[in-house]
Amino acid sequence: MSFETFEKDGLIYRKITEDDIPKILAFTDIFLRRDYLVRKPELIVKIKIGEMIGVFDKKKLIAWGSMGKNKKLWNLLVHPKYRGKKIGENIVMKLKPDYIRSKMDQSTGDPTKFYEKIGYKIIQEKIGRKKNINLMIKEDLLEKN
Ligand SMILES: CC(C)(COP(=O)(O)OP(=O)(O)OC[C@H]1O[C@@H](n2cnc3c(N)ncnc32)[C@H](O)[C@@H]1OP(=O)(O)O)[C@@H](O)C(=O)NCCC(=O)NCCS
Repeated sequence: MSFETFEKDGLIYRKITEDDIPKILAFTDIFLRRDYLVRKPELIVKIKIGEMIGVFDKKKLIAWGSMGKNKKLWNLLVHPKYRGKKIGENIVMKLKPDYIRSKMDQSTGDPTKFYEKIGYKIIQEKIGRKKNINLMIKEDLLEKN
């Protein structure tokens, strides 16, 4: 993983290890359950082959993001009480994904505008079997092509 642990606004951003798995399972079970059930085998693989970052308020996990080796963002979730404080943006800026599949029909709303705000552009709209995904790319990559 290409980043060191750092502190920002009193929160710790650090790499996730297998020891954190119970915390991620509990966190996603509460705040992501209506959209997607995260399972332990999936996390073990993602920690091994991808990049995973957790944000902690003291020992409490309050945000989580992960990305594959192909630079595609896999997951991003901020605790509802901590939203709107740039934590989601900070995670994306650290992971620096090239591509994002923004699921428009999440129970918490469509995050597409969030990604647009932080520098991503839709390249394919309403894709997938359910036509509920916007494929987005980092704006500066688009400018290079
Ligand atoms: C989407 C999510 C990750 C955003 O995280 P966050 O920490 O609340 O967002 P930030 O505070 O970093 O927001 C950065 C900017 O985007 C804006 N923004 C955030 N969510 C937004 C939304 N849903 N619509 C429009 N703008 C939004 C913020 O106002 C902020 O703008 P500013 O720079 O003008 O102040 C968070 O709301 C979340 O966990 N949602 C549920 C899960 C989810 O949808 N994950 C994405 C999976 S594809």
